[in-house]
Amino acid sequence: MAHMAQMTGAADGATVPSGFRGAELGWPELHRIPRPPRRLPLLGDVLGANPRTPVQDSMRLARRLGPVFRRKAFGREIVFVWGAEPAADLADESRFAKHVGLGVANLRPVVGDGLFTAYNHEPNWQLAHDILAPGFSRTAMEGYHRAMLDVAARLTDTWDGREKAGVAVDVPGDMTKLTLETIARTGFGHDFGSFERDRPHPFVSAMVGTLSHAQRRNVLPPGAAPLMRRAERRNAADMAYLNRTVDTIVAARRADGALRGHADLLDRMLEVAHPETGERLSAENIRRQVITFLVAGHETTSGALSFALHYLASHPDVLARAQREVDQVWGDTGEPGYEQVAKVRYLRRVLDESLRLWPTAPAFAREALHDTLLCGIHPMRRGAWALVLTAMLHRDPAVWGPDPEAFDPDRFAPKAVRARPAQVFKPFGTGARACIGRQFALHEATLVLGLLVRRYDLHPDPGYRLRVTERLTLLPQGLTLRLSRRSRAARE
Ligand code: HEM
Repeated sequence: MAHMAQMTGAADGATVPSGFRGAELGWPELHRIPRPPRRLPLLGDVLGANPRTPVQDSMRLARRLGPVFRRKAFGREIVFVWGAEPAADLADESRFAKHVGLGVANLRPVVGDGLFTAYNHEPNWQLAHDILAPGFSRTAMEGYHRAMLDVAARLTDTWDGREKAGVAVDVPGDMTKLTLETIARTGFGHDFGSFERDRPHPFVSAMVGTLSHAQRRNVLPPGAAPLMRRAERRNAADMAYLNRTVDTIVAARRADGALRGHADLLDRMLEVAHPETGERLSAENIRRQVITFLVAGHETTSGALSFALHYLASHPDVLARAQREVDQVWGDTGEPGYEQVAKVRYLRRVLDESLRLWPTAPAFAREALHDTLLCGIHPMRRGAWALVLTAMLHRDPAVWGPDPEAFDPDRFAPKAVRARPAQVFKPFGTGARACIGRQFALHEATLVLGLLVRRYDLHPDPGYRLRVTERLTLLPQGLTLRLSRRSRAARE
């Protein structure tokens, strides 16, 4: 449990109180941080702001106000950071740690001290981290490969049908089916039957409901609670549905008995004790972890795949290069082996470049472990926090050049990566609380993109302009593509 004390900032034994803390409390020289010029007395900086697109609104403000800025909405003052230098400073784990706030804290009623939402000082974070991390080892990943292929085959069956019928495919909808089935199958041995349904599985609707609700609670004034009563009731029903689904999955596994060799996450949760302390996860905590993994394990990967498909379809030269690579590296193998996935390096760059422009978990928060100075100039008290706006960090012209909006996978060629400072590409967060599922997501997404570009040419709707939906995560709104099967000749 080496970094636990450090992560709580609890060298003196005290933990910083949880709940929303406005920047006024933690930043003694807040007035030096730029903010939008026109501020309304009660509402704050909401002129031109749209509660449905808080991230994109903040991106617009970031461009005007610079690498560290603040924004006040409905009585809450928040400091945003996106410059490469201050973001690198916040990545220093000896001075900063994850801050559970805003949207993440709003998920606590559903997932409590589950891995994603646990406060750093809560013992269940380290316990679950240590028990579950081996579930993402290389050996474990190899074990998931077969199931990933099986789910991908259900996607291509569906897409073959659409292609034959000459009907466009709903990209985010189908990527959500794919990623939900993948995490459910590999992690929990469960089949939601998403591809056999016309409408999203009720689990997905309940999940989208709770995510959107959490986002809405971020942007509404604290006094608006009575207006939310109906929404709160629906949210309670959504949460109850999520809980019931998970209880069914757990009960089925308990009835079947453990798998051999702790082959999946659920088995680890139910059977494995902490290697040092012998402690186990409680039934309540397992429920929280299963929901956490079902949600965190699919929503962001679905968005990442969708953005990558958008960029591939709208950049025929990139698509052709990716297709050539996959044809060459995978050859005629019906199903690529585990080892072959990491070898389609150009396709991985396409994915990285898509995650650069639209990191689908678009921000993460960091708090000071002790009184400190951000970049040597902005004093922060212990517990003060800032939101790293990843999509803008990934657009800092000082690092990414004069045209950061341009989609160019070669930015991730090894030489280009070596030439950049560390800590400037953070789609998976940073430090001890960075994404535990990173390798899982990258393997799954690269495999699926490879299978799709090998099989189809992708044709965008000529009228489509990228619009981004926000519901704590990001998705390309209304993205559809037409497909044509590639002929064997084209692949040789
Ligand atoms: C492209 C796909 C993904 C992206 C962009 C992504 C992004 C992130 C980010 C930014 C964080 C840190 C959040 C913070 O600091 O508050 C995080 C944490 C986490 N992610 Fe992911 N993620 C992805 C896929 C996955 C997958 C596939 C899984 C599970 C199979 C997963 C499970 C988690 C969990 C459990 C945490 C919390 C870790 C902890 O605090 O110990 N994620 N993810």
